[in-house]
Amino acid sequence: MKNNRLIIISYRLPFSFKTENRTTSVKPSAGGLVTAVKSLDLSGSSQKPVWIGCADFTQRAWEKNRPLVDNDDFEYVPVFLDRKTNQDFYNGFANSVLWPLFHYFPSYVDYRDEYLRAYQAANQAVCAVVSEVVQPSDIVWVHDYHFLALPQLIRERHPNATIGFFLHIPFPSYELLRLLPVKCRTYLLTGLLGADLVGFHTTDYTIHFLQSVQLALGMQHKMWKVSYQERLVQSNAYPIGINYALFNEAYGDNEVIKERVELKSAYKDQKIIFSVDRLDYTKGVMQRLDALDAFLQEYPEWRGRIVFILVVVPSRDEIQRYWERKQMIEQAVGRINGKYGTLTWLPIMYQYAYLAFPQLIALYTACDVALITPIRDGMNLVAKEFIATRKDQQGVLVLSEMTGAANELGEALLIDPLDEFEVAEQLKLALEMAPEEQTRRMAIMQQRLSSYDVEKWANSFMNDLLQTQEILKKSH
Ligand code: UDP
Ligand code: G6P
Repeated sequence: MKNNRLIIISYRLPFSFKTENRTTSVKPSAGGLVTAVKSLDLSGSSQKPVWIGCADFTQRAWEKNRPLVDNDDFEYVPVFLDRKTNQDFYNGFANSVLWPLFHYFPSYVDYRDEYLRAYQAANQAVCAVVSEVVQPSDIVWVHDYHFLALPQLIRERHPNATIGFFLHIPFPSYELLRLLPVKCRTYLLTGLLGADLVGFHTTDYTIHFLQSVQLALGMQHKMWKVSYQERLVQSNAYPIGINYALFNEAYGDNEVIKERVELKSAYKDQKIIFSVDRLDYTKGVMQRLDALDAFLQEYPEWRGRIVFILVVVPSRDEIQRYWERKQMIEQAVGRINGKYGTLTWLPIMYQYAYLAFPQLIALYTACDVALITPIRDGMNLVAKEFIATRKDQQGVLVLSEMTGAANELGEALLIDPLDEFEVAEQLKLALEMAPEEQTRRMAIMQQRLSSYDVEKWANSFMNDLLQTQEILKKSH
């Protein structure tokens, strides 16, 4: 890998630009994909890696502001899609068809042929940019559901390219995939088969993919491999990790300490429960608020003794399912605060904002309980980051069993996010857990997360990808 240049392709670049008072600055992007790719250790590579993504700024803004990101670890190549294509591709096919379907929300799917056409056009446009950039010895690594078709498009133009694909969200059971028209699911699955290696967060998702290939395309798989167009396509599970050292060391960072002290003193008479998620129906925020309501109802002795800090990060706010959820959440927060609040205490502190790193870590490390309850989540990095930051080995994680992270975090209090009374009961257990028991659980989870961090994740994916090339060379 040392001599190969890495080309990353994802919809989201890790930044956009914001201008305030005539000063432009770099605004970091939200989401697990960006966190993971940004934290790869690329110091061993002799050439600067390239990151190709779709711009959410204009060509003019890029020409003007490019120097702001020139010194980053990556060379960025933004792709400029026209407004309509981007709308129908990103808001349409990616986030109103694939996202809800792959997260088991079929009733939220809004399938339209024009969305599919925009998805095809966007994948073609990105492929054209990749073609301009790619060299024979490069490793191309395509990320996520926006580009399921891209591996095959690149393969058609560059038959000998080394192409890896990683999906950051669940791959659903075939019963879900078959809700798409035949032409559509065939296009998506054969698109993925253009890769040499297709990676997922869990074994379940990998099995779903292989079963779909078998049932939709009639292709058998053997030893996690499918034979397609005289090539072998390998698939496997690579549960994404975090930059453990970064999060663990942040505990002692001066700014983090300052923020943590402020937080703790603001709530010195209360235990702090927190959650942070993008505004997304998959994250189960409404159900979480119902659970908090049930908790305060069932265990009135806790009234006045807890505060729930609920941070919701703006996301995809042009899509109705997203912006309407903001209103629903805000109404529920108002209702619960009105129901249980007094003149001197409110159960929920709500913030609709993106938190910068020091504030996020301060929240992770000041709290007593992390309440993470997605209805579905490919992995959920917030849960892993919370564990990694707790150098004091205190704090309890209440985690939905419907997250990929639950596979690796069995010492958390695992809950069914749809059962508000179970969540309320586990929340009580979390608040009452003895410090020694908290340490015992934290220590085991920390050991596990530190031994498979984001670097190990990337290395194991890369090693397997390069291995497919060795196999290929031998077979020719
Ligand atoms: N994050 C952040 N600031 C925030 C909220 C989240 O930097 O205010 C980051 C967080 O550290 C994590 C990512 O966004 O790395 C969220 O990833 P996750 O897998 O939990 O969910 P996703 O948003 O990808 O669905
Ligand atoms: C998830 C997806 C990413 C996406 C992120 C933020 O993590 O897997 O591909 O970038 O959410 O969503 P957004 O639509 O803002 O890019």
